[in-house]
Amino acid sequence: MARERLADFRSDTVTQATPRMLEAMASATVGDDVLGDDPTVKALEQRVAAMFGHDAALFMPSGTMSNQCAVAAHVVHGEEVICEASAHVFLYEGGGMARVAGAHVRAIPGDHGMIPVDAIRAAIRPPDLHMPRTALVMLEQSHLFSGGSILPQHYLKAVRELTQEHGLPLHLDGARLVNAQAETGIPYEEYGALFDSISISLNKGLSCPIGSMLIGGGAFIERAKRVRKWLGGGMRQAGHMAACGLVALDEVLPLIPEDNGRCRHLGLSILGLPGLVIDQRTVDTNILFVRVTDPDLDAPAVEASLRDHGVMALTMGERRLRFVTHRGISDADVDRATRALQAIVQDR
Ligand SMILES: Cc1ncc(COP(=O)(O)O)c(C=O)c1O
Repeated sequence: MARERLADFRSDTVTQATPRMLEAMASATVGDDVLGDDPTVKALEQRVAAMFGHDAALFMPSGTMSNQCAVAAHVVHGEEVICEASAHVFLYEGGGMARVAGAHVRAIPGDHGMIPVDAIRAAIRPPDLHMPRTALVMLEQSHLFSGGSILPQHYLKAVRELTQEHGLPLHLDGARLVNAQAETGIPYEEYGALFDSISISLNKGLSCPIGSMLIGGGAFIERAKRVRKWLGGGMRQAGHMAACGLVALDEVLPLIPEDNGRCRHLGLSILGLPGLVIDQRTVDTNILFVRVTDPDLDAPAVEASLRDHGVMALTMGERRLRFVTHRGISDADVDRATRALQAIVQDR
């Protein structure tokens, strides 16, 4: 008997390659990318660099490696990085900024990923030999921890002005920039102009099996390439994987607005269900946190019951569940999740 397909809302990283990606993988022209002769990797790097109006881009195995190579290419040991206290790069990358770049990290609490501009200004160190030198500011768009929130353009511009005033580079962890851009409609080049470097994920909403792109100036990308090599991220016939990235830009990128729309739809369906509340201010993109307020239930119990209904969500703490929409989630899956949640709270 065929196994029932589960509607997997745990993460957009569960997305699988499309049939066109599999074909492109098989037919890609490849070479040894560490020696600089993989034409498919080069084509993807050039396309993404041009998309953001930057000189260069680098194909990376993961978003974590993109962020960590970026930090190590921007700062030298002992210099300080300013980031938001709930940023992925600070919370979920294994302390990589300290390990890889030897960075001194200043994590400042923010609101939905936004560190108050005055707090950044106050955190920039004066030239004083007793203090570490401030060397980098980082932001995240969309901001995962607050439920995929979009940092508005006026905020990004204000941070950009401040960093320019102080001659500091600004990096964007844009793992889900495509989800934010699908809502703002702001051209990628405009995002490119606001940041010295940007990482974007291929392995999330864009559905590639692996990969991330690091985008920036030519000299910066050369430094990041050296770090990637000593981390063991220099890949040989990587064109088989880069081929998926090229397909993703043609085929999957245009579908991202649908993923965001399904997330909003799920959020609306949950409104009004007893014992469950939406645990974020707005549903901006493809991430939805739901708080279990029913005292007789908790997040692991709801997660287990959902699975009985063929729906997977992710427990994030005792009372918080995460739902993420992506190419593998259809309208019918959203309806299935809604019906399952209704049944779970009403069965009580
Ligand atoms: C905001 C953000 N940045 C970076 C990453 C790292 O990406 P990867 O899993 O490819 O290392 C993730 C992964 O979930 C993420 O959500």
